[in-house]
Amino acid sequence: MNAAVEVFRKDYRAPDYAVENVDLDFDVRDRTTVVSVLRIRRNGQARADAPLHLDGRGFELLELAIDGLAVAEANVERDDERLLIKQALPQAFSLRVVTRLDPDSNHSLEGLYRSGPMLCTQCEARGFSRITYFPDRPDVLSRFKVRIEADAQRYPVLLSNGNRVEAGEAADGRHYAIWEDPFLKPCYLFALVAGDLGCVSDTYTTASGREVALQFYVDKGNEGRVPHALESLKKAMRWDEQVYGLEYDLDIYMVVAAREFNMGAMENKGLNLFNARFVLASPDTATDADYEGIESVIAHEYFHNWTGNRVTCRDWFQLSLKEGLTVFRDQNFSADLNGADVQRIGEVRQLRTLQFAEDAGPMAHPVRPDSYVEINNFYTATVYEKGAEIVRMLQTLLGRETFIKGVQHYLREHDGSAATIEDFLAAHEAVSGRNLEGFRRWYSQAGTPTVGIDDEYHLLAHTYTLHLEQSTPATPGAPDKKPVPIPIRVAFFDGEGQRIHLPAQPPLMPAPDLILLEDAQATITFEDVKVRPTPSFLQGFSAPVRLQFGYSSDQLVNLLLHESDGFARWEAVQRLMLNAFFELLSGPAGDDTQALLKGLQLLAAQHFDDKALLAELLRMPSESYLAGQLQPLDGEKLAAARDALRLRIAHALTGPLSVWATAAPEDQGAINVGRRALAGIASGYLAATRSTRILDLCRDRAGSDNMTLSYGALVALNDIDCPQREDAMAAFLSRWRHDALVLDKWFALQAGSAIGNGVERTAELLGHPDYVASPNRIRSVLGTFWRENLRAYHRADGSGYRLLAEQVLKLDKSNPQIASRLADGLLGWRGLAAPRDELLRAVLQRLVQQVASPDVSEKIHKALA
Ligand code: PHE
Ligand code: ZN
Repeated sequence: MNAAVEVFRKDYRAPDYAVENVDLDFDVRDRTTVVSVLRIRRNGQARADAPLHLDGRGFELLELAIDGLAVAEANVERDDERLLIKQALPQAFSLRVVTRLDPDSNHSLEGLYRSGPMLCTQCEARGFSRITYFPDRPDVLSRFKVRIEADAQRYPVLLSNGNRVEAGEAADGRHYAIWEDPFLKPCYLFALVAGDLGCVSDTYTTASGREVALQFYVDKGNEGRVPHALESLKKAMRWDEQVYGLEYDLDIYMVVAAREFNMGAMENKGLNLFNARFVLASPDTATDADYEGIESVIAHEYFHNWTGNRVTCRDWFQLSLKEGLTVFRDQNFSADLNGADVQRIGEVRQLRTLQFAEDAGPMAHPVRPDSYVEINNFYTATVYEKGAEIVRMLQTLLGRETFIKGVQHYLREHDGSAATIEDFLAAHEAVSGRNLEGFRRWYSQAGTPTVGIDDEYHLLAHTYTLHLEQSTPATPGAPDKKPVPIPIRVAFFDGEGQRIHLPAQPPLMPAPDLILLEDAQATITFEDVKVRPTPSFLQGFSAPVRLQFGYSSDQLVNLLLHESDGFARWEAVQRLMLNAFFELLSGPAGDDTQALLKGLQLLAAQHFDDKALLAELLRMPSESYLAGQLQPLDGEKLAAARDALRLRIAHALTGPLSVWATAAPEDQGAINVGRRALAGIASGYLAATRSTRILDLCRDRAGSDNMTLSYGALVALNDIDCPQREDAMAAFLSRWRHDALVLDKWFALQAGSAIGNGVERTAELLGHPDYVASPNRIRSVLGTFWRENLRAYHRADGSGYRLLAEQVLKLDKSNPQIASRLADGLLGWRGLAAPRDELLRAVLQRLVQQVASPDVSEKIHKALA
């Protein structure tokens, strides 16, 4: 058997054996010995001679015994990844496996590994089989009991899932703890921590009056940065009770912050492991955006306790069952807490930048994939964010109340088991009485649908007609697409921005504010329409589609000024900005640029209570978003046109921008968050004019004790080659060099800067005395470089591609998951302007010969196919 085999959804078979109990004993020394005793029972449907399939890799096997007798070599078949026991097995038996692990040399950050002062585990998706032989699949649910023994000085904190049922001293200055998890769980939700950590604790009383202990474990000295995460957790616990009627189910909830972590965080039952950047925050070290990120990731992992843990996934093809639903839940939580408009704009920006690009590239896959080579490659924007969009559409179609009942019904029906996306949809069908047959296609078809709309207004007849059509582009291996049901929220306005109310027309228009486009084409005619309407389509971004409509500039300005839906206003500016960007890409400023500037001037004259929304309306599209709009892509040209756009806006709005740039309060609080966002955006525009006054202001502000202000000022200076930038960056480095999370920001700024030779500078950053190859730091440097520094990354000599490829190859051996994330930057060669396409292809052709991991090799093969 080869490591890189393709797994197909259609090949799913229920497991032959159930593991009822898992008894683990971790003896932590220089090496860690793990004794695993499993109580196994053959499942009803299995043949009596079914072999026992176990997964396992990367450890030393010391013992393998069934009912106390060593398993004979002759009865075993094995390769690098698994082991098959072929001897005759009784209906129920015990399997004992003893393994030895070397966590200090495990740089994959999967299985048991070291992160600073602790040893910790990461088991999703298939990390448990790096610890011991086990049927490492999510549909095997067991009751876990764990004993951990370690040196009491070095590892005073010993944690695992569930309740601590016993603890005490052991010989030679060692101690132990025993944990029992009363809930059935798949092995990917197992977790263990042994470390020397600080602890911040609190309690939470559930709606039914049970007291839950909350404990946060962090590097010593960071305890003061825990309160925000702790408060976020309590808010999430309350929200899930109030909105979904879901209460926490154990007596203790623990969160551990790790310096080294591949992803954002992990929802292990009762013992979440977090990338420290999603736990630690204080006003001087974390930006307002960091605060929001923490609140949402804390909530996300907490919400998994029901959607993911109590009900888990049958197989990894169902990943979106827990991830799409849980992202949707955390998005709603954030919208309820912080305001729906800005929250939604952020979600759409992210979806369009990352997921639309993925869906248009060589790795495009359905939200429920049909096959994979390496499952770690499918923790994607498609599975997570598009998955959340599908759940949102379901809510739109069914109505919020029915939708919530559907989720509750699904959880009741499948509690304590492993379910499928089909089960989730069936629960909604049962509760609503609706048929979701066509809706299922959202899960099975890859590619972003396009909706094209034309309108026609008859002045004499007073009729207004909409022609709608949809199509989904071919994706690799899937040329033919069927229509999907697309909910399009609409509103209509007259030329002065007053709402026009047009009646519903079921079934195509089930409500006056909703079109449901189910077929490839549809037409709606409204009678008795006195003036030509300005339509606002896709309010709230009601479906994950590209919407094409020939808006005039006047219509866009009308929507920008008068729409009440925040997303729709933002979308109107985005369209104006894109039009202007394209104009500047190919020549001097003309009508489109003028229309944008005029619209922004009118916007600036409006009164805004929601400063955060105003900031979002003014923010320029990112380089990576623009990259998705430009085929073939010339990154240098793109960056130059974007710079020109920035400068135009700065000159047209100097007055209001100067006011906003100076109103930069340091205190926390929602209103000030908006003001700081606005100040950051405003100083970014103004800095482009190179006015000494603003450059000085930014340099001074970079030394603020408020990280949002400090970082905002550095962002504003970052693309300007001036002494103020040099001074501010040097001061920031020497102030924060001891603090890994803040230092990540400094590295990201350097890698993203437009000045000088960005390729050389990025290469130098990798050799900088303060550089360490932690996942966060690697992402700060190389992730920022390829995503947000298009001028450097896409240099016509190909040096940017070669730099990234070298690093991918280097990481391929130590940490394939991180290597594979970075490799995303190398996949889109087909969309590049010559000579870059061929240069990048040549880089890929060399790389594919050299990489060893299935993670990277799956992607490169698909990119070259
Ligand atoms: N399940 C985690 C989440 O989204 C993500 C994760 C996946 C973390 C795999 C680590 C490894 O909440
Ligand atoms: Zn998740």
